[in-house]
Amino acid sequence: MDGMPDPLWNVAIVGPGGVGGLIGAVLARAGHRVMFVARPETVDALTTGGLTVHSGKFGDFQVPATATARLSGPVDACVLAVKATALDAALERVPAGALGDGLVLPLLNGVEHLPLLRTRFPAAQVVAGAIRVETTRVAPGRIEHTSPFSGIEVASDTAPGERVEALAAQFRRAGLDVTVRDDETAVLWDKLAFLAPLALLTTAAGAPAGTIRTQWRETLEAVVGEIASVATAAGAPVDPATILGMFDRVPAGMKSSMQRDAEAGRATELDAIGTAVLRAADRYGLTTPVTARLVDELSTRESARLAE
Ligand SMILES: NC(=O)c1ccc[n+]([C@@H]2O[C@H](COP(=O)([O-])OP(=O)(O)OC[C@H]3O[C@@H](n4cnc5c(N)ncnc54)[C@H](OP(=O)(O)O)[C@@H]3O)[C@@H](O)[C@H]2O)c1
Repeated sequence: MDGMPDPLWNVAIVGPGGVGGLIGAVLARAGHRVMFVARPETVDALTTGGLTVHSGKFGDFQVPATATARLSGPVDACVLAVKATALDAALERVPAGALGDGLVLPLLNGVEHLPLLRTRFPAAQVVAGAIRVETTRVAPGRIEHTSPFSGIEVASDTAPGERVEALAAQFRRAGLDVTVRDDETAVLWDKLAFLAPLALLTTAAGAPAGTIRTQWRETLEAVVGEIASVATAAGAPVDPATILGMFDRVPAGMKSSMQRDAEAGRATELDAIGTAVLRAADRYGLTTPVTARLVDELSTRESARLAE
């Protein structure tokens, strides 16, 4: 229809895990043409069995899935939902030309992937995103969404505002909560300012948030203060009291995905979530001794664990 946006988009989801599987299944259920880009074994599993989602928020449902090991596009949007440790390898599956003029929306935690993506894709197509959710890929194609919420924030310093709004509108129509903000630095650092202390401390202590906010309070306050100062220097003013207030409200049993990865003996996103904060602190001439000590300790432990 003239003047009306196409109600159905072609969307690629790179990494059909906890986040990508959930978002892709919700979009597919709404009728969007979703192409999952995955490792060959996972392509087979998805093509055969589709995706099954268990979610208090979105319901329990199953959708058939179309999947490929290499995107040949074009698409309206390409959601990147791999862990930071797999980003380089996963991008090999997304030739730059294959996207057409589709938008690229990374939902990875961290702040350093945006400049990387803008070296690979036209800057006018790259949108920053952050997702607040707890969701797990329990097996290929099987997603357990355990948080009562799932909120996505998007913003772009380089993509046209109306294209970012169109993306948000399509996702919202499918039932996803999407907020468009006007500052991508704030989108990324607001998330990291809470996540980095949570991830570093729960992993270091091998204990959930409830233990951290009581027995590790002094360290928590130091790390939150350091990371808030880095976020503020990066251009996203963060109030440490607000972050500590969030810590005091989360469920006592809450774990971080870094902690779960470490417990399972997997590589963690320490570089993207912890070391990236130290690199930013360096750039702004800030000292972050407590955060640096934790990152160093976790890095040593991870190297030893992965060498076993
Ligand atoms: N899960 C959450 O609750 C949550 C919340 C907020 C933010 N995040 C962030 O979202 C990002 C994704 O996390 P996640 O928990 O969804 O991870 P995940 O469940 O481990 O899923 C990652 C997916 O990437 C796929 N993958 C790995 N290497 C690949 C490659 N070379 N090519 C194609 N696909 C590849 C994996 O494939 P296989 O299935 O074949 O192994 C898996 O399906 C992370 O940055 C995380 O910090 C996660």
